[in-house]
Amino acid sequence: MAMWLLKVACKIPGVRFMLKRSFTINDKRLQRNLFGLSFENPVGLAAGFDKDARWIDELSSLGFGFVEIGTLTPKAQPGNEKPRLFRLPEDHALINRMGFNNGGVMAATERLKKRKSHVIVGGNIGKNKTTENEQAVNDYLICFEELFPYVDYFAVNVSSPNTPGLRALQEKKPLLEILLRLQEANASKAKRKPILLKIAPDLTDDQLNDIIDIVAESKIDGVIATNTTIVRAPLKTSPTEIEAIGAGGLSGLPLSNRSTEVIRYLKQKSGNAFPIIGAGADLIQIYTGFIYEGPGLAKKICSELCDLASN
Ligand SMILES: Cc1cc2nc3c(=O)[nH]c(=O)nc-3n(C[C@H](O)[C@H](O)[C@H](O)COP(=O)(O)O)c2cc1C
Repeated sequence: MAMWLLKVACKIPGVRFMLKRSFTINDKRLQRNLFGLSFENPVGLAAGFDKDARWIDELSSLGFGFVEIGTLTPKAQPGNEKPRLFRLPEDHALINRMGFNNGGVMAATERLKKRKSHVIVGGNIGKNKTTENEQAVNDYLICFEELFPYVDYFAVNVSSPNTPGLRALQEKKPLLEILLRLQEANASKAKRKPILLKIAPDLTDDQLNDIIDIVAESKIDGVIATNTTIVRAPLKTSPTEIEAIGAGGLSGLPLSNRSTEVIRYLKQKSGNAFPIIGAGADLIQIYTGFIYEGPGLAKKICSELCDLASN
């Protein structure tokens, strides 16, 4: 509802400009150059919030340095039955089992054609629920080709816990096949675009070692760490409430330690071989914090980064 209201407000002449002025910090120290892209600031909005590319212009007014749309799939699909999104306010966390509800990649590209802002947009791509894992590569390729002219980078999502079997694609063989085929398609373009891999926080060290090899072998541009977790680490919310909520991915504060651990492990073990998007990394992405803290969060983080840079 808040986003629809913001959309209406932004239709009033001057409002988008005013919002951008009050929610954005313009400071050279915030700029980042990674995988050939120039980010105005390192704070991005993670995938899943603007799945269908409806609010890129409005979100860019709220001070984000980049916005990741999706996860998009070739065909539209309704996602899981509601309720599918739960707040755990005591934990500053969310549990969701949305299941890639989206209007399909073509509907999103129609919207992308009309966007006004120049904020960096990532296209997060996945497979339809009804597509078997053996055919998954085709879904990723369809989304890649369709989005290619309209996004600045790609995020390959094989880590959502809410599409049955999806995370099995994180295994070396299927993952390498998907990434190599995407790279082949990428190489056939006049100018290639960065491809990042979005991974789960629930991978073992051995699986993380495989990820390092896969990034090197496929020569993709980096990793997004991490997606939501299926682990219900110690939470303040009562176990009965958690059990009543059921399956889904946990995000927010209780995930931050594990995702930071994954980032640290990948950085150290790979010898800083590739850029990582995630807290404490080269760029960051937020979602749950935006829900709890509200529209000023990107600005708040940017302003604290500037303070750190001055000290
Ligand atoms: C309601 C909801 C929907 C999400 N949908 C997606 C999605 O479609 N694709 C994806 O890659 N990540 C999705 N995510 C994961 C976020 O992009 C992010 O990786 C995760 O929430 C961890 O960041 P956070 O703790 O800042 O929220 C979703 C998260 C939430 C809370």
